[in-house]
Amino acid sequence: MTLSVAVSGASGYAGGEILRLLAAHPDIEVRTVTAHSSAGQPLLAHQPHLRSLAHLDLQATTPEVLAGHDVVFLALPHGQSAQYTDALADTPLVIDAGADHRLTSPEDWAAFYGGDHPEPWAYGVPELTVGGVKQREHLRGATRIAAPGCNASTVALSLAPGVAAGVIDAGDIVSVLAVGPSGAGKAAKTNLLASEILGTANPYAVGGTHRHIPEIRQALAAAGAPADGIRISFTPVLVPMSRGILATSTAPIRGDVTDAEIRAAWEAAYADETFVELLPAGVFPRTADVLGANVASLGLAIDRAANRVIVVAAVDNLVKGTAGAAVQSMNIALGLAEATALPLNGVAP
Ligand SMILES: NC(=O)c1ccc[n+]([C@@H]2O[C@H](COP(=O)([O-])OP(=O)(O)OC[C@H]3O[C@@H](n4cnc5c(N)ncnc54)[C@H](OP(=O)(O)O)[C@@H]3O)[C@@H](O)[C@H]2O)c1
Repeated sequence: MTLSVAVSGASGYAGGEILRLLAAHPDIEVRTVTAHSSAGQPLLAHQPHLRSLAHLDLQATTPEVLAGHDVVFLALPHGQSAQYTDALADTPLVIDAGADHRLTSPEDWAAFYGGDHPEPWAYGVPELTVGGVKQREHLRGATRIAAPGCNASTVALSLAPGVAAGVIDAGDIVSVLAVGPSGAGKAAKTNLLASEILGTANPYAVGGTHRHIPEIRQALAAAGAPADGIRISFTPVLVPMSRGILATSTAPIRGDVTDAEIRAAWEAAYADETFVELLPAGVFPRTADVLGANVASLGLAIDRAANRVIVVAAVDNLVKGTAGAAVQSMNIALGLAEATALPLNGVAP
């Protein structure tokens, strides 16, 4: 049976990547694409690489246009999704790429976003360790899914195995990330002009203000860290690569564990995972090797002099960081083969 799908925000980066993946999905027909200022124009005017969807025109994003599909993807600026969710009550599966339905804590929502706190939905990172099982168990049969923040899921996947195994201390995490500007979306912004970002690295949201911080805390609490004992210093740095995140996260080693026991925590967590890989000891990932792939690639080091575990993670923010996570979660929710339409291989050089 072919499932009908509507994708909102289809002129943007996240919507475009969801469409690229869905176009190769054997069980899906993309029937409707919607946008805001671009409504009325052909999809290909904004996504010329999506040739197989050339027959689609962008419609206005309204509850009426989105209703009547088996699956609806919302890929809208944060704060825009919640207004559609009541109107989509009869839609069997709704997946939000925005932040609206990610946070369970009203206090975190108030502190980092503000306004009404929308209902939290199932978190779309299947490989996360949550209460002794994988998050995919909570996605089976889900009808409402919040796809993750790209930086948040990258850091959470980096550290959750060590937290769950009790070998790292979540009370002193430091994460520094190199991120590409596609993470900020397609809308024109002066600070994202080529003249502002080429040839330079620009830190931003320094000092604990980035909106992905509570999402990381939430994921690590779900992995088993004491909720009031998670401290994370999180610093993103904008670098001149279109896509990609390279996150270097470190945390103190807990207790009297051997190097082998530490590494075993990550090996056990990801040995059976298709889309999260732990590289051999001494090998670290490059963003170039995950471009276009639905893969989080991790390298692990143990620095005994600093008494810290270091995890370096590379993710394509638009694939494993957003659209791939959304489609993977959709597959699980619908009982389809989890890897359907998800690229394991990247694009290189
Ligand atoms: N980019 C990433 O790497 C990434 C990663 C994880 C999550 N996300 C999340 O995904 C969502 C979309 O991000 P993006 O990067 O794709 O942004 P984007 O490239 O700026 O695209 C935004 C899309 O939303 C539409 N839109 C703008 N204002 C709207 C409104 N008031 N009502 C309805 N539609 C509106 C735009 O339509 P027009 O172009 O026609 O105006 C466009 O299609 C955000 O919530 C973001 O946080 C993005």
